[in-house]
Amino acid sequence: MKNNALSIVILAAGKGTRMKSSTPKVLHTICGKEMLYYSIKESLRLSDDVCIVLGFEGEKIQSKMQEYFGDRIRFLFQDLQNFPGTGGALKSYCPKYKKVLVLNGDMPLIQASELEQFLHINADIVMSVLDLPNVSGYGRVVINGGEVKEIIEEKDADSKTLALSTLNAGIYCFKTKILDSYIPKLSNDNAQKEYYLTDIISLAREDNAKIAPLFVKLENFKGVNDKLDLANTEEILSQRIKDFWLKKGVIMRLPKTIYIEEGVEFIGECIVENGVSICGDSKITTSHIKAHSVIESSIVKNSDVGPLAHLRPQSVLENTHIGNFVEIKKSNLVGVKAGHLSYIGDSEINSGTNIGAGFITCNYDGKGKHKTKIGKNVFIGSDSQAVAPIIIEDDCLIGAGSTIRRNLKKGELFITYGKETIKEGFFYKFFSKKT
Ligand code: UD1
Ligand code: MG
Repeated sequence: MKNNALSIVILAAGKGTRMKSSTPKVLHTICGKEMLYYSIKESLRLSDDVCIVLGFEGEKIQSKMQEYFGDRIRFLFQDLQNFPGTGGALKSYCPKYKKVLVLNGDMPLIQASELEQFLHINADIVMSVLDLPNVSGYGRVVINGGEVKEIIEEKDADSKTLALSTLNAGIYCFKTKILDSYIPKLSNDNAQKEYYLTDIISLAREDNAKIAPLFVKLENFKGVNDKLDLANTEEILSQRIKDFWLKKGVIMRLPKTIYIEEGVEFIGECIVENGVSICGDSKITTSHIKAHSVIESSIVKNSDVGPLAHLRPQSVLENTHIGNFVEIKKSNLVGVKAGHLSYIGDSEINSGTNIGAGFITCNYDGKGKHKTKIGKNVFIGSDSQAVAPIIIEDDCLIGAGSTIRRNLKKGELFITYGKETIKEGFFYKFFSKKT
């Protein structure tokens, strides 16, 4: 799909005041990844010259995006003080190619296939237009005879202009020479005292440039300006992710109740029941995830998990059964059964081992985390604790209610017996009741 004659610039320098947050707008997450990640991912499918314009908290955004994309993208820092606004963002931008696609960093639903449409229209400027009545938050677009005449920002519009239903969706394709000619000519003589990129339209019109509207669907061109937009956008993206995996053969019970993040991968036939959340870079292979379980950045292979189980990051399960109210953290379990009510952290547990209800690894001593290693075919009785660091070798048997504080050798039995006290009829005496 890559079109090497195209440069893409993504505007992400704004503060996003309407988000009412100390986090820069484009770092708010949607289905587990920052908003800006999505437009960069799609842009890289079309171009090898992708530039991100940063300003507010720019270094923070830059280092986060470099974690994902390394040196496949470049960055430009906007002089927000002297040249604020979407036009100011492009003040010192130098594209590599003769055509430039300008995206807003707050439009995470955009897809490469939609962006390609801009390239099929022959004009000096192609701009995306939404046709939606009674919507606020967008610049109004004046179209006449099939060509765009002007964009008027909402804050500068009179009531007649505000009534227009043709809205600027915020993505444009410019011939590079148009940007070179008109960016230096933009002024900030408007309600927000900003340099509007949208003013290029009327300047270029005066020189008879051809400006074509491209009517687009809100589903792909939705801008995120506040937290209501953020929530609505996440719903759309979440549905897309689930539709993708359903088509790939994952079985989902009541998919509307399931949350799957970008970056999760399914292999083979998997079943995901209602209310399940699967997050981070989890990888699920031929497994059954039962109702209301939460899986975070874990690997699950040929296993069943839940209902109501919690796998915290860096857990690896293979041929394993995890039942309700079991929490696993940073542990490797191969061929293990842990059916009920356990906490297993920083552990390695091997095949044939059965974990009784209520077993807990005491992995934290108040200062540091310690490891538990349990061998093969170990039988752990209910309500036991292993105080880490500890090694329990193969074929050990641990009696119910034991607290294990020392390593166990292969084949050993371990039982903790406290002193037992029995007093006949004590209940009746205590409550002064008759037998
Ligand atoms: C912009 C358009 C508006 C359009 C809407 C679509 C302008 C002047 N207005 O308005 O016509 O209907 O998008 O969503 O372009 N940004 C910078 N530097 C800045 C200011 C903003 O890089 O100085 C970035 C922001 O980070 C954001 C994008 O540009 O990603 C759009 O900015 P935003 O403030 O959301 O513009 P809108 O008011 O939505
Ligand atoms: Mg916006």
